[in-house]
Amino acid sequence: DEKVRVQENLLKWYQAEKRTNMPWRKENDKSWDAKVLGQRAYEVWVSEIMLQQTQVATVIEYYNRWMTAFPTIQDLANADIEKVNSLWAGLGYYSRAKRLWEGAQKVVHQLGELLPNNAKELQSEIPGVGRYTAGAIASIVFGEATPVVDGNVIRVIARWRAIHADPKKAKTVELFWDIAGSMVPESNPGDFNQAMMELGAQICTPQNPNCVGCPIRNDCKALNQLKHAQELSKMGF
Ligand code: ADE
Repeated sequence: DEKVRVQENLLKWYQAEKRTNMPWRKENDKSWDAKVLGQRAYEVWVSEIMLQQTQVATVIEYYNRWMTAFPTIQDLANADIEKVNSLWAGLGYYSRAKRLWEGAQKVVHQLGELLPNNAKELQSEIPGVGRYTAGAIASIVFGEATPVVDGNVIRVIARWRAIHADPKKAKTVELFWDIAGSMVPESNPGDFNQAMMELGAQICTPQNPNCVGCPIRNDCKALNQLKHAQELSKMGF
């Protein structure tokens, strides 16, 4: 059916086309224990917070410097806030750096040194981790079939399903979370979520989307409506 086809086409495209120059992207390994997963959660947490306000090319540099300065969550928890801020300088929204630092302290001093391994607790326990970041960490690192919704994902879903609703309304955003949640597969949820974001960033762009290169174009209602309108106009309607 359509859902399975879209999942498969997106995942296939992502495996072939994903950007591999992101240092926080690593192939998951079933042999990883809780400690390795905790380290991965820290890495993905830092990268997703940085990516919320800055494009990938810039984040790579900041991420690498950050990980050199604070290789583990313990290093971050023990750092001075001045050092933390200096490594954030240029990214803007310093409150995010402060909340990463505060979150690291809570993890190290109150949560047994490991970030929670599920979206619900990540969101409720860690300062600065909202629904998006919790979903990203839980799906990418821990394999939880939980969605992520950001601006890219909203645009992809809106076009795919031809949803013409005001994205500023809370009810609309809720609808997108519901649809995204119904789409996340039990196997490979992290890759699926990243494929949705990557499609929005690389193919389904705000202006001049590259529909010819889109892995789900045959199921895209917005594209089909556009083609239909063009046919009618050719016929003189
Ligand atoms: N944008 C933010 N996080 C991302 C990720 N993990 N993959 C692709 N695009 C993203």
